[in-house]
This record gives sequence, C-alpha cells and structure tokens, in this order.
Amino acid sequence: MPVISVPQSFNEDELFVDLRSIVDQPLFLKCEGFNFAGSIKLKAAAEMVEAACRAGVLTRDSVLVESSSGNLGVALSMIAASKGFRFLCVTDSRCNLSTRLLMEALGSEVHVVTEPDPVGGFLGARLAYVRALCASDDRYVWLNQYTNPGNWRAHYRTTAPAIARQFPQLDVLFVGAGTTGTLMGCARWFRDWHRPVRIVAVDSFGSAIFGGPPGRRMIPGLGMTVRPPLLDDSYVDEVVRVDEADAIRACHRLARRGFLFGGSTGTVVSGALDWLTRRGASGLTAVAIAPDLGERYLDTVYQTNWIEAIYGKDVLDSEFDVPVQAVHQSAF
Ligand SMILES: Cc1ncc(COP(=O)(O)O)c(C=O)c1O
Repeated sequence: MPVISVPQSFNEDELFVDLRSIVDQPLFLKCEGFNFAGSIKLKAAAEMVEAACRAGVLTRDSVLVESSSGNLGVALSMIAASKGFRFLCVTDSRCNLSTRLLMEALGSEVHVVTEPDPVGGFLGARLAYVRALCASDDRYVWLNQYTNPGNWRAHYRTTAPAIARQFPQLDVLFVGAGTTGTLMGCARWFRDWHRPVRIVAVDSFGSAIFGGPPGRRMIPGLGMTVRPPLLDDSYVDEVVRVDEADAIRACHRLARRGFLFGGSTGTVVSGALDWLTRRGASGLTAVAIAPDLGERYLDTVYQTNWIEAIYGKDVLDSEFDVPVQAVHQSAF
C-alpha cells in the first residue's frame, strides 16, 4: 500500500478494464481517472509544474494561470494547493459545474468566459483573457498546455510504457485528442521503441484538430477549435471522428454495466468500436485510453434533460430502457 504526503504522488497507472464481455470486441480500457485530481491531466500538470519550478520560472510570488476545459484546472488546483501557489483557471461556460466547484474547493480562482470570440470561439476568448492577464502583471505564470512539451513528455515517460508493459503484443492504440499531449507522448514512445502499434486518434465531430471547420461541441475535454500546436500528424496512422450522441450512448452502455466513465471515454470507446467493427478485430490486441471518470458528468452526459435539450429525444434508444435482468441475462 502506498503512503503519500502530497496528493500528486498517487496515480494508479496499471489499471485496465477488459471490455470484451460488454462490447463484444477485443478492447481494453486504460483507466486514467484514479488519482486525487480524477483525470489523466494530473500527469501533464505535474510534469509542467515540476519543469517550471526547476527552471526557476515558478516562485513563491507567482500566480499560476491556465486555460482549461476543466480537468487540467482541477489538477493544477490540487498541485497549487499542495505547493502553496495561487492558481487562476480560465475556463468557459461548457465547464461542468462540479468541476468548477472542485477547483474553488481547492482554493483556486475560476474565471468563466461566457462569450466566444467571433473567430477563435471559446478557446480564442480564453486565451485572449490569459494573455491580457499576463501582460498586466508579471507575477502571472502561464504554463500553456497547448505548447508546453511537458504535456506530451508526461505520457512518453508514463502512459505509453505502462500500456506496453501490460500489452507487449499491442496492435492498436486508440487515443482521444484535445491538446494532443496524450496522443503525441504515446505515439512518440511507440515509434522510438520500434513497436509496430497502429496509432488511431479519436476526435469529436465539430473539432478542427485534424482539419475541417469547427462546429458545436458540448462535451468538454476532447476536440479543439484550432489545430493544436503540439500535433505532428506524421505520428498518427488514422483518425476516427465521433458524433457526441454516440459518445453519450457509449457512456450509458458502460454505466449500465457499472462502469461510470466521462464523456471523452465514451467518445474514445465509441470511435474504437466503430474502427474495430469496420476493420474486423479478430486476433487484434486493442487498448483505448479512458481519460477520466463519470461523476463530473452527472448533470450533463448522465442527465436526461440535458441530453434531450441538446441532442434530441431519441439519443438514448430503447436499449437503455430494457430491464436490468434482461440486459445482463448472459452474465448470471
Ligand atoms: C477528459 C479529458 N479527456 C481528454 C482530454 C484530452 O487530452 P489531451 O489534452 O492530452 O489531448 C482532456 C484534456 O483536457 C480531458 O480533460
């Protein structure tokens, strides 16, 4: 049993869920939500903060500031509280209420941008706010997850080797794309270590990461309105795009078997199943990365009114209304 004295010291990096009995495809999920920040963004946050401390950029007088859709903000809130820094998170109105409350409970200040920039959308408006803050006072330190190499290096050091240890014969890895820190860190590691693993990026419709115009996206985490500066396409073998309604269906399908995951996990699972069904998965070893858990999404992804208001009435079809015994019959 680990004994820790700072919250960032604990992160469960060895937990995988075998989804074969739930989704009828040979898919394993690497769970990244079991730490005190509740998401994969703890890794990037810790790596970026440590690098800034080592470089002498972050001092006792500094005020950390970062643009985040939520999870990085929670992770930085936790680390800032533990290290005694102030932290200001700039987010937007799509950030879950529970995520915002978490950051405040950890002692951070949260600024919610409510008006998207006419060209750059919510992300553009958030970045403009961060830049204005940094120009106004040199105590503000912006780690900038969108360009900071610590973001992908964290996954190069930890996530990819943990997957390779558990699945030495891995054939295909599905990774959701936001800043692309997770994607680039894992893809670089498998390439550098000459592992013949197919890297499949999973993105949401409405995201402009891999091209195309930005559109409406309501699930925070995955997707961006612009091409992420960290992205190097030459490491990505394929891209799968997922409708948010399908991501929500995947979340509910897993929840009905007791696994409550977040919206981006639903997106990655839906994209992976689509790919495995199209390609024929027999004999393949496939892993998808699950960035967080579902509790932060109880008032969105798991709330019928929210789902119906945004995606219409038929998103959760009758599959989810079947009595539990009928769905699980084969398991008993
Ligand atoms: C829940 C969730 N999933 C996925 C991602 C995307 O990860 P990355 O920024 O490494 O591409 C994020 C990033 O904030 C996230 O919060």
